[in-house]
Amino acid sequence: MRAARSPCAKTRGVDGRGGKVILETERLVLREMTPGDFAALCRTLQDAEAMYAYEGVFSDTEVREWLDRQLSRYRSDGFGLWAVELSGTGELIGQCGLTWQEFDGGRVMEVGYLFERAFWHHGYATEAARVCRDYAFDVLGAEEVFSIIRDTNAASLAVARRNGMKQRGSLVKHYRGVRMPHLVFSATRVARDGALPADGERRTRDCG
Ligand SMILES: CC(C)(COP(=O)(O)OP(=O)(O)OC[C@H]1O[C@@H](n2cnc3c(N)ncnc32)[C@H](O)[C@@H]1OP(=O)(O)O)[C@@H](O)C(=O)NCCC(=O)NCCS
Repeated sequence: MRAARSPCAKTRGVDGRGGKVILETERLVLREMTPGDFAALCRTLQDAEAMYAYEGVFSDTEVREWLDRQLSRYRSDGFGLWAVELSGTGELIGQCGLTWQEFDGGRVMEVGYLFERAFWHHGYATEAARVCRDYAFDVLGAEEVFSIIRDTNAASLAVARRNGMKQRGSLVKHYRGVRMPHLVFSATRVARDGALPADGERRTRDCG
């Protein structure tokens, strides 16, 4: 991967409101969210089927808080969940990115992903998750990245496995009054590099 080491001036978005582009893959553009993404985020965060693992849909206020949390993460951490757009059309189809999460008494870098239901089963989540994993290794210098997933979320567990992750442990979260066992998956940079073909592999285009 060619590292996106300097800030990118380029922005995207169907209507020109899009935020800073962070990463590109063959089919996708990952960019920072902006307040103008509220309606697009609602299509996932207010869809009962998509939000099954969160025990229900978000209210408008919760969607706004979610969006504000990402904007605040960009400022404080330099990363967060990013908006995922289709390269061809600029349509926002989901979210994928990196966040700090608590595990084992410390904080770990997590690859997270949520996609609009109309865009499931196309491999987009795996494509985005891989490029985020590699960004964590190659740009942010992480040695290990995690995905912490509710044990009943088969689709998400499958993405983690396709992202080269293996189960390292488990934990229980309590959310909305529900006890939720989670499985902790991770991938290491060393294992990823060991899996590379001898001549290396260019996984992503940066935004420069
Ligand atoms: C988790 C989630 C992102 C997974 O989405 P997904 O579409 O199943 O995952 P992928 O993008 O990897 O797609 C894989 C599927 O696309 C298919 N596919 C089609 N074209 C493909 C391609 N070019 N490359 C790879 N897979 C492709 C695969 O065969 C697979 O099919 P299957 O689902 O029938 O087994 C989605 O279910 C979701 O948004 N859920 C709600 C939010 C959530 O729970 N997030 C996780 C919180 S931990």
